[in-house]
Amino acid sequence: MAPPVLALALALAAGQQGVSGAPQPKAAPRPLARQSAAPGVEFFEKKIRPVLAEQCYSCHGPKLQQASLRLDTAAGLRKGGLSGSGLSAKPGQDLLLKALRHEGPKMPPQGKLAAPVIADFERWIGMGAPLPADRTAGSAPNPQDMVAGRKHWAFQPVRVLPVPKGPASRWPRRKLDHFILRSLAAQGLKPSPEADRRTLIRRVAFDLTGLPPTFEEVEEFAADPSADAYEKLVDRLLASPAYGERWGRHWLDVARYAEDNPTSEGTNPPPSFPWRYRDWVIQALNADLPYPDFIRRQLAADHIPGLPPTELAALGYLGLSPVYHKELMLSRDVVETIAADEWDERLDTVSRGFLALTVACARCHDHKFDPITTKDYYSLAGVMASTQLLELPLVPVPEGQAEKLAETERQVRQVERDLRRARRQRSMAGADVAKRDAEIAELEAKIAQIKKSNPHYGVPMASVVRDAGLWINGDDPARTKLDYRPGVARDLPVFIRGSVTRPGPVAPRRFLEVLSRGEPRPFRRGSGRLELAEAMVTDAAPLTARVLVNRVWGWHFGRPLVDTPSNFGRMGGRPTHPELLDDLAARFIQNGWSLKWLHREIVHSAAYRQSSKNNPAYYKKDSDNRWLWRMNRRRGELEAWRDSILQVTGTLDRTAGGPSEDLEQPSSRRRTIYGRVSRQRGPDIHRLFDFPDANRHGEARTPTTTPLQQLYFLNSPFVQGQADTLAGLVPAEAAPEEGVRTLFRRILLRNPRPDEIRLSVGLLGDAGASDRRARWRMLAQSLLSSNEFLFVD
Ligand code: HEC
Ligand code: HEC
Repeated sequence: MAPPVLALALALAAGQQGVSGAPQPKAAPRPLARQSAAPGVEFFEKKIRPVLAEQCYSCHGPKLQQASLRLDTAAGLRKGGLSGSGLSAKPGQDLLLKALRHEGPKMPPQGKLAAPVIADFERWIGMGAPLPADRTAGSAPNPQDMVAGRKHWAFQPVRVLPVPKGPASRWPRRKLDHFILRSLAAQGLKPSPEADRRTLIRRVAFDLTGLPPTFEEVEEFAADPSADAYEKLVDRLLASPAYGERWGRHWLDVARYAEDNPTSEGTNPPPSFPWRYRDWVIQALNADLPYPDFIRRQLAADHIPGLPPTELAALGYLGLSPVYHKELMLSRDVVETIAADEWDERLDTVSRGFLALTVACARCHDHKFDPITTKDYYSLAGVMASTQLLELPLVPVPEGQAEKLAETERQVRQVERDLRRARRQRSMAGADVAKRDAEIAELEAKIAQIKKSNPHYGVPMASVVRDAGLWINGDDPARTKLDYRPGVARDLPVFIRGSVTRPGPVAPRRFLEVLSRGEPRPFRRGSGRLELAEAMVTDAAPLTARVLVNRVWGWHFGRPLVDTPSNFGRMGGRPTHPELLDDLAARFIQNGWSLKWLHREIVHSAAYRQSSKNNPAYYKKDSDNRWLWRMNRRRGELEAWRDSILQVTGTLDRTAGGPSEDLEQPSSRRRTIYGRVSRQRGPDIHRLFDFPDANRHGEARTPTTTPLQQLYFLNSPFVQGQADTLAGLVPAEAAPEEGVRTLFRRILLRNPRPDEIRLSVGLLGDAGASDRRARWRMLAQSLLSSNEFLFVD
């Protein structure tokens, strides 16, 4: 039998469906965004195909098919050879791995591949051996034809369009609604009626601030007769500091923000002040910094004269890039390859993040689909090779003090970690309190002493970048050296087939040819970061604006207009509403690239205000809701639900900014964006609730629904503790109905229906006073686990 708490949650969930009439389609486990290069396919292209081409094509390729095996096409890989090496089945996958490990047929016959390469194959097969679709002949005659390439839809100029003619209707509220309505009509669909006010306030509050309103705010809004009540509400939400905390998190996914490195050996210690960048993003969004400045500062704040020095924190976008371990005992070529991998990751994050272009696919060969050459790739990689990551103070300190300061800060953090551990141990049952107290006092004194030893202590430091070319020096065979030359830029040669051992012609630093007006001009100012940012918001402005508008649309609606938000190339999706996207992008530019303008334009629209109720006939026609005949019903992201739990219990700590806290500590009460983010091992809830992998640019979150999540709601100390806090809010003397009402109002922001009161009171039974609290806790927990709480309608 289901435990009572689960039984109640199920009963309440069922009741909710009964009321909404038509059955809700199953809560979306299906990803709303098709990911352009599904990570597995990208892994294949970057790690597997190059090996197959180099090591296997000669005998299993177009010319020769030993054992009837072709490894140069996806079809061939799936089908396999004579003894059944087809990857579409498990035995085939085993056979391939056996061959590589030289446990079966020894492949390649000339010698076993290096262990890390075999490990890549294992990892790829572990992912299910994902393969790209084979290219059909003629799909891309010559992707590098720049004249033809410039005609691609995403590169076209944007302009403000006339209001389209659609069916006569009083439905549209904003210009974008006319585009939506016309497309709906073309499909034989109609928009849904407006959602009721209680649904609307909850939806827009979650969307703009990531926090639910209170029961009282819901009631007040529902009763407000004024015509502009909704617009006023939107203004209030956009002005709240919580707005930056919500939308900052969206951006941090794009910027793959994290507070450590993929591994942490001596050459890549974790940054000491990662949160300065996170706080900068939040503040920049709250201040509605125009998007071009948002880009310029993140890439090149150090090149912009007249900025307050604290704005250097913006450089964390590059300054917090993953740094890989470089074992300096290894050869020059190995170390340079690792450095090149780092430049590649940065270039990939910049090009997919701002331009939705997979420039990194042109590292070993010209891009197979888009007009991007290896020369383009290395001219941008040169910008990264001319940029050094480091920590610097954000206020001026005397010459030579910056490094000492960073060292002092590191020492303090180290001792603080010991202090936290000592405090934890003191609070544990059976601890030797006196001994621990002495230890704590000693550590506190040590921290005070370190701080005093440096007169500049307390000066804000941040992870930033500066112009300094990196050369890998192999003169000393015993130890490879990293040679940074401040102020000197480094143009890279094209590395033939991506190999640092095969340098080709030099590719001077410059912007992508296809997006440049005329011949691309070489970058002249230091690394060229500012010129790169400038090119993105001038020459490439139409693309840059489209990409951002599409992301913002996706974050509002749960589905972007182009379903591959980080790939606008030929292999990416096409916009469902091309004219709407163009018009909105053009008006976004016209309105000073203001994000808050864009939010208003979208959330004021009739399309956004629609009910999310299902319409079975429409569902049959358009189950993905591509044409927006209703609002998408969505599960709140990790941040939204954790923050709302704390909000409804009244325990949310709204302190803004500063060092991150460990989300797994029971004392952690701040908004989830202030939780530590790791590239190595994040908190369990990150993994459980679809937090993106911070080792690479995150295109979009993929919501999943798993039984582990339900178990989490039942068993986690966090949810149980919060439910207990809620139980404590029910007055001891309250009549059962009164108690039920208190909890429903707190958690679900509404009064319970009579059947829900009956059900809940039944659960309470004739429990005595001492049992009461446990029963209230159970009710609170089941409401916190209910779909009504977890989903936003
Ligand atoms: C110099 C030629 C040559 C190269 C290079 C080569 N193979 Fe082979 N491969 C063969 C021959 C010959 C056979 C069949 C005879 C045998 O089983 O030893 C074979 C068989 C196989 C089989 C068994 C196929 C089946 O279903 O019967 C697999 C799997 C395989 N190769 C994988 C690879 C992979 C992966 C590579 C590259 C890493 C590779 N081979 C490189 C020559 C080659
Ligand atoms: C580390 C080097 C490397 C990277 C990075 C790389 N490739 Fe390749 N790719 C190769 C090699 C080697 C070949 C085989 C030789 C060739 O066709 O140039 C190849 C072949 C291909 C082919 C088949 C060629 C054809 O004409 O059918 C496609 C498609 C392809 N790559 C796509 C991609 C995509 C998409 C990306 C980015 C996600 C990518 N590659 C990134 C090395 C790489």
